Amino acid sequence: MHLNIAVLEGDGIGPEVVAQSLKCLRSVEETFGHSFTFTKGLVGATAIEKEGNPLPEKTLKICKESDAILFGAIGSPKYDDDPNSKVWPEQGLLRLRKELDLFANIRPVKVFPALIKQSPLSKKIVKNTDLVIYRELSGGIYYGEKDHDPDSNSATDICTYNEEEISRIAHLAFKAAKNRKKKVTLVDKANVLQTSRLWRRVVYDIAKSYPEITLEALFVDNAAVQMVLNPSQFDVILTDNMFGDILSDQGSVIAGSIGLLPSGSVGTDYAMFEPIHGSYPNAKGKNTANPVAAILSVAMLLQHFKLHEESDAVVAAVLKSFSKNIVTPDIMGSSKYGTDYVGDFIADNIMELDEHFNMNDENIDLGKSTII
Ligand code: IPM
Ligand code: MG
Repeated sequence: MHLNIAVLEGDGIGPEVVAQSLKCLRSVEETFGHSFTFTKGLVGATAIEKEGNPLPEKTLKICKESDAILFGAIGSPKYDDDPNSKVWPEQGLLRLRKELDLFANIRPVKVFPALIKQSPLSKKIVKNTDLVIYRELSGGIYYGEKDHDPDSNSATDICTYNEEEISRIAHLAFKAAKNRKKKVTLVDKANVLQTSRLWRRVVYDIAKSYPEITLEALFVDNAAVQMVLNPSQFDVILTDNMFGDILSDQGSVIAGSIGLLPSGSVGTDYAMFEPIHGSYPNAKGKNTANPVAAILSVAMLLQHFKLHEESDAVVAAVLKSFSKNIVTPDIMGSSKYGTDYVGDFIADNIMELDEHFNMNDENIDLGKSTII
């Protein structure tokens, strides 16, 4: 298969972790006989510095002409610390999501057996966690009317949803549940918000066409508690843009490190894959950032194109790195391995799955390696 991939490294540790994903894609190319073309584009603080715009038109064009986008990370303290700034990096990512109509953000949260001790929660609690968050990504309070009135020192962010925006992601969530544990949990704040009440009406209605799926609804405050008390009760979590942002970061704690979790953002015409972590400016250039979330984002990209064997091979190589303790210091404080070394190890161990069997590696729980 030939794929044109737009590569948006972004800010902070973005370029370092994306470099490891590209090594893995090159390895997949070689092992499985595919051909991938990478075209880089500027985004975020780096793009503001060079072009004065967090999403230059040229970058948008590169994305629109690609089969998929690989994204690194975005954000810089320079802009976080200046609330008066008229332009900031995250605007680039938000505009990109909107322009490409990436309405569904898919964030799997899974505990890897080899890393179970990493979770700050007890092994007993996190043991069987395998959930996926379907976060609505192109609407809600992120995109509603915004205002800041310096005279009255007040500001407004409006949260709006319509039926179509809810229904298109709800269908994806129900379809995903069909191939999983057959349960959808709608997370909202329907005891307070009108938008949440609309979500409930629309989702309850859609549920009728999926009789094999159990639907439950939880208020977001309770969902946050349930996620740390008993995360294995969840299968597919369906939620709006803001709640999904918050709950997915919380989910990363269950897995042991935010450096482990990938995500896919899909729409009708485009798809983008990115780690859920931020730009982690303090670690920039130190070769300590965990490349696994970025590499697993490649596995999601491959799955998106139905390259299942290739995707499994990437996941198997990641699991091998865990079992051999070839991990960055966020996973094992005493680790002397850097971003580059871990990336090289994983890329070098991407091979046809039979070869893994022949090598008789432990801990490669094949068949369970599908991450979405
Ligand atoms: C995420 C990030 C973004 C979001 C930021 C960088 C705008 O936190 O992808 O979760 O809030 O969606
Ligand atoms: Mg977030």
